Amino acid sequence: MITEQRRLGTGFGAQSTADDVLTGINLTGTTALVTGGYSGLGLEATRALVRAGAHVIVPARRPATAEEALRTTPRTEVHPLDLADLESVRVFADRFLESGRTLDIVINGAGVMACPETRVGPGWEAHFAINHLGHFALVNRLRAALAPGARVIAVASAGHFLSDIRWEDIHFRTGYDRWLAYAQSKTANALFALHLAHLGAESGPHAFAVHPGSILTPLQRHVPRAEWLELGWVTPDGEPADGFKTPRQGAATAVWAATSPLLETHGGAYCQDCDIAEPADTDDMLIGGAKPWITDPRAASRLWELSSELTGVNAF
Ligand SMILES: NC(=O)c1ccc[n+]([C@@H]2O[C@H](COP(=O)([O-])OP(=O)(O)OC[C@H]3O[C@@H](n4cnc5c(N)ncnc54)[C@H](OP(=O)(O)O)[C@@H]3O)[C@@H](O)[C@H]2O)c1
Repeated sequence: MITEQRRLGTGFGAQSTADDVLTGINLTGTTALVTGGYSGLGLEATRALVRAGAHVIVPARRPATAEEALRTTPRTEVHPLDLADLESVRVFADRFLESGRTLDIVINGAGVMACPETRVGPGWEAHFAINHLGHFALVNRLRAALAPGARVIAVASAGHFLSDIRWEDIHFRTGYDRWLAYAQSKTANALFALHLAHLGAESGPHAFAVHPGSILTPLQRHVPRAEWLELGWVTPDGEPADGFKTPRQGAATAVWAATSPLLETHGGAYCQDCDIAEPADTDDMLIGGAKPWITDPRAASRLWELSSELTGVNAF
């Protein structure tokens, strides 16, 4: 059954923080995995989950940097993982499975945005490979470790507004565009959650996609500062523009989707501002919403098959 993209009226909103949405929720005894959990939104999600009692595994492509970022955060552990390298994903997952531990929450938060054209693995476009295929392989390889009732959160973006999946040229063999490449990968994140929710409908996991909002973090590092004003990200004084969130607010929707009892029966929903997002009736990404191509179950199924062929993994 497809979840309707309709607001629930959760009592939370754009201003809510990750701590707000965890009020009254005790995660003691649970284990979460947060990719990108040492920077920007992932770091705030990790901190909030830990404050609520969870133990958090943080895979990192720069483990020393991650150790430093999490030095004062208890109940966290860092392990090497490069989502651009499927062998690294396999090694990380195998080690975790060998540990015999289980995961209650997986937040696929790592990502890159607007990079210059970059090829990884067998010539794959980097946004699609890192943001989507790496997470696809990771969750599939970790399937046996997912606890009953586990939730998998794909951190997508209103960036999906700019592109459906480019079925005829996913890897930009021609006409590379850094924004379209990012957009396609974020559409892929949302479709991944949609199909995973479908596959997990009987025996889990639950899966959801989220748009965190617009937040200044290291994600924007590939965009020259001169463009920030032009893009409406900052005021002429260099302050975040109206409508931008703080990182703690930006982490809230993923943490909410990972824990809210309200979402239990809404598998596959695409969420923003700590609620299910409405269908988009605008092209304004600050307003957001869900474009039709991220809620198309046939596209989600097709992308799953393709991702499985490309990565050689399919555990569901
Ligand atoms: N910030 C926003 O306004 C916004 C809006 C919509 C959606 N999002 C989404 O939110 C997520 C988090 O973004 P953020 O703003 O928190 O960005 P961020 O601060 O740059 O964090 C991204 C994280 O992903 C990690 N990462 C990148 N490539 C990796 C790889 N190959 N293997 C493993 N880890 C890798 C980075 O590690 P390194 O530090 O080692 O590079 C970093 O820890 C992203 O998926 C992004 O698309 C953000």
